[in-house]
Amino acid sequence: ETPNNLLEDEQKEKNHNKVKAIKSLNEIAEIKDLIPLILNHNSPLRKNSKNMVLFDGNTKSKIMIIGEAPGKEEDEHGLPFVGSAGQLLNKMLSAIQLERKNIYITNTIPWKLPQNRAPTDQEILEFLPFLQRQIEILKPKIIYLLGTAAVKAILSTPLNLSDLREKWHDYKSIKMDTSVKVLVSHHPSTLLQSPKLKKEAWNDLQMLQKKLNEN
Ligand code: URA
Repeated sequence: ETPNNLLEDEQKEKNHNKVKAIKSLNEIAEIKDLIPLILNHNSPLRKNSKNMVLFDGNTKSKIMIIGEAPGKEEDEHGLPFVGSAGQLLNKMLSAIQLERKNIYITNTIPWKLPQNRAPTDQEILEFLPFLQRQIEILKPKIIYLLGTAAVKAILSTPLNLSDLREKWHDYKSIKMDTSVKVLVSHHPSTLLQSPKLKKEAWNDLQMLQKKLNEN
């Protein structure tokens, strides 16, 4: 008498699964446990990628670096910043006596983007909960944002990178008691394309080093 509304049932099931996924995101206490959740998240970007790229470095670090998205080499290895931009990042870090193995390095988007394009605002928003959860679990003292995508995700401001450099910003999510200090700099890929910006990046690194020495 009552016809089955299969579409409605399917929608209910989908909504239920969504609620379950969001709940478990909040419950996650270790960064590695984000892996199945991200794999489970249905994104067309996944089809374009060989491996998910979540993080490299130290999950107890007080410094978090956030880039944009994996490129070809990162996708091959499943690790962030291992290609030419990564080589430059390693050199930049060692210039202020930091080693990447002591830092937590991640990206705004965990999947490679088609033709290496920049992520859309919608994609940034879509993956933001995973990034926020990493921050809440890691509880870094300092976040170093490399490039526009990371700036959009974390500072959510219409200001551009050059307006945001050279000052300390604060980041806090609803689940955090204290805010994290945030500094903005050029993405290493931008520095490879425009080496004249390296001087500015060096100034940013020195600001980072100064802050680390204060702590
Ligand atoms: N560029 C990024 O933003 N992230 C990487 O992991 C590699 C290149």
